[in-house]
Amino acid sequence: MNYNAKVTGTGSAFPKKSVSNEELAKQLAKDGIETNHEWILERTGIVSRHYSETGNPDEFNSSLACLASQKALQMAGKTPEDIDQIIFATCTPDTPLPSNGCWLQKKLGAKNAYAMDLVAACSGFIYALNTADQAIRSGDVKTSLVVGSETLSSMTNWSDRSSCVLFGDAAGAVIVERAPADSQSKIITSHLQSDGNLWEILHVIAGGSNEPVSSEALKQKRNKIQMQGREVFKHAVRTLSQFATKALDEAKISHEDLDWFIPHQANLRIIEAVAKRLNIPMNKVILNLDKCGNTSSATVPTALDEAVRQGKIKSGQTVLMDVFGAGLTYGSLLLRW
Ligand code: UT7
Repeated sequence: MNYNAKVTGTGSAFPKKSVSNEELAKQLAKDGIETNHEWILERTGIVSRHYSETGNPDEFNSSLACLASQKALQMAGKTPEDIDQIIFATCTPDTPLPSNGCWLQKKLGAKNAYAMDLVAACSGFIYALNTADQAIRSGDVKTSLVVGSETLSSMTNWSDRSSCVLFGDAAGAVIVERAPADSQSKIITSHLQSDGNLWEILHVIAGGSNEPVSSEALKQKRNKIQMQGREVFKHAVRTLSQFATKALDEAKISHEDLDWFIPHQANLRIIEAVAKRLNIPMNKVILNLDKCGNTSSATVPTALDEAVRQGKIKSGQTVLMDVFGAGLTYGSLLLRW
């Protein structure tokens, strides 16, 4: 047995409500939080983002993921029954139990699959794609559904202006299928790493078993995202550059030969700094953060989906995905479309 794994379908879904910087600033001002469109645009590159409507079952994390998965299945020409494995990357699941993978399995009708969640924050989609690649190459799995989907608005600290303007809600999905050993279209290489010593610079401390949510925790917003923005920024630029280089070096692909770069969409300044370090011109960088904000594990699959549907990414082209997130977690994955 000697197989490859290749991505054959992509899909994405967003909540209906899109909120511009101006609208967000107006909303936050009601609670005494000062911000403005110019600051957000200049410091992040974000113009608007989508938020799920709280309590609307059509906009639960797993429901957005279901819509994205149906689109990916359609592109791949597959049915839900064809799926053997569902890997759902998220840090904002619908419920602590069961997993979002199982909610998605039920909604999709993927009755032949086994489903699980994978928690690696913003790096989750690449960790999940790496896991699917290994399962397919080992011969265990033929067809995998890999999802990155978040409703980050549920854990945003609306009184912290330096983080609350960054995040948005979205779902992205891909179908990964077994391909022959000589397939040109395939996942070429991936590199993952994490450093738990850096947990403190980006975390949500309450809501787990150490500190279940209490009225005190709610009051102190300990169940919401806490972030040291500048520290995260620094690590992001360094690790994104390092992991992109690892993938290109291993595949012996020069930055000139790379067709597309899809970095985690957290901040345009981070992306520009990384592209500059790697000598990748910005016209090869796929961006969607202007209209989505940072959607954590959903940034890369939604950006990929948009580029594929716009016909930017063509058969035989190389695509480098590159991520970092809470943990800290890092990773890159290179594929040929
Ligand atoms: O998926 C990973 C998630 N996280 C990240 O990727 C975050 C990485 N870090 C960043 O993107 C940036 O550090 C931020 C966008 C979070 C912040 O940008 P910055 O250039 O590092 O700004 P700063 O935190 O150094 O703050 C500069 C100033 C401060 O005012 P003073 O002290 O200079 O008077 C802040 O209080 O900007 C102020 N500020 C704001 N002003 C208007 C911070 N947030 C805002 C805001 N509106 N929303």
